[in-house]
Amino acid sequence: MQSIIKVDLGPQSYNVCVRSPTGATPTGGLDELGSLMGDLSLGKKVLLVSNQSIFRHYGDRATAALESAGFEVSSCILPPGEQYKTLNSVQKIYGAALANRLERSSTMVALGGGVVGDITGFAAATWLRGINVVQVPTSLLAMVDASIGGKTGVNHPEGKNLIGAFHQPRLVLIDPDVLKTLPAREFRSAMAEVIKYGVVWDVELFSKLEKSKRLDQMRYVKADLLAEILIRSCQAKAEVVSKDEKESGLRAILNYGHTIGHAVESLTNYKVINHGEGVAIGMAASSRLAVELGMWDAECDRRQSALIEKAGLPAKLPAGVDVEEILNTLQLDKKVQDGKVRFVLPVRLGEAAVSDRVDGDVILQVLREML
Ligand code: GLY
Repeated sequence: MQSIIKVDLGPQSYNVCVRSPTGATPTGGLDELGSLMGDLSLGKKVLLVSNQSIFRHYGDRATAALESAGFEVSSCILPPGEQYKTLNSVQKIYGAALANRLERSSTMVALGGGVVGDITGFAAATWLRGINVVQVPTSLLAMVDASIGGKTGVNHPEGKNLIGAFHQPRLVLIDPDVLKTLPAREFRSAMAEVIKYGVVWDVELFSKLEKSKRLDQMRYVKADLLAEILIRSCQAKAEVVSKDEKESGLRAILNYGHTIGHAVESLTNYKVINHGEGVAIGMAASSRLAVELGMWDAECDRRQSALIEKAGLPAKLPAGVDVEEILNTLQLDKKVQDGKVRFVLPVRLGEAAVSDRVDGDVILQVLREML
């Protein structure tokens, strides 16, 4: 599988390269990291940032690929997990940057899932007022979403991603082969974002997902469908970001399902419901809200529910969550504007709109039906 998708941002444009190893002695994908970076006129010094478990699997291959292209590589290994997405981890990266004398032309390479990508992106955005970052996502979620578009950041004790910066990568390298070590729950979780692209942007992706019998584990997803999922999702993200880099309008549609999703994630202390599961619940709620408001039809809602179920994702609220508490939590969301909660609502398959006129009573009614 080989595809190059351009994120078109003028002088800050970059490529998302989707490449699998090929041939009898498979090389390619991750092994091409150095040669792909070699085309970008970057400085010689590279700080490879990863977490312990990812580095154990792929650290040597990434380092060898970089060194064979002439880069001087040092590394910074963080502990795995969302709980380490903090300023402390950023400090650790700054320490490694200082110890290895990174320069303005140097590059941080993020090898890992969304947490590693976001922390490293933020460290690169702020070290020496901004150095190069290359994203090498190793989870499906990071491949189809977090690694593209330049949103970087860490959590504050009071909320997720409250500290951050926009900082576009110089390159995103996706090697689908690394997904073979991805746990099944993380694969399912990412499918929520893939379904999201089908609903808000790419009706053809939606139809292709509908044709697959199962979407809940990678082994049931045929190689050509996995390729479509990766390429079409990255294309959707690249097209939206190219039109609205800083989320002043269109990019907000990528938050479909995220407003209620974040509230459910946070009310279950990020332990019961993970990000993708929250997004699935949020998409189910937003779709029903749109039906209630007469914006989209019940048949599309049914088709979306069928996909969510096929991906093994939840569409009901978890036990013990209070709907009034969800409504209160929505007010704290980053996407609140002038005190009004902004919902992304589907209009037709492949198109969504943002509305800040959804009445609290309708939200409560829909949420009660999802208990
Ligand atoms: N994950 C949504 C965005 O990057 O805009």
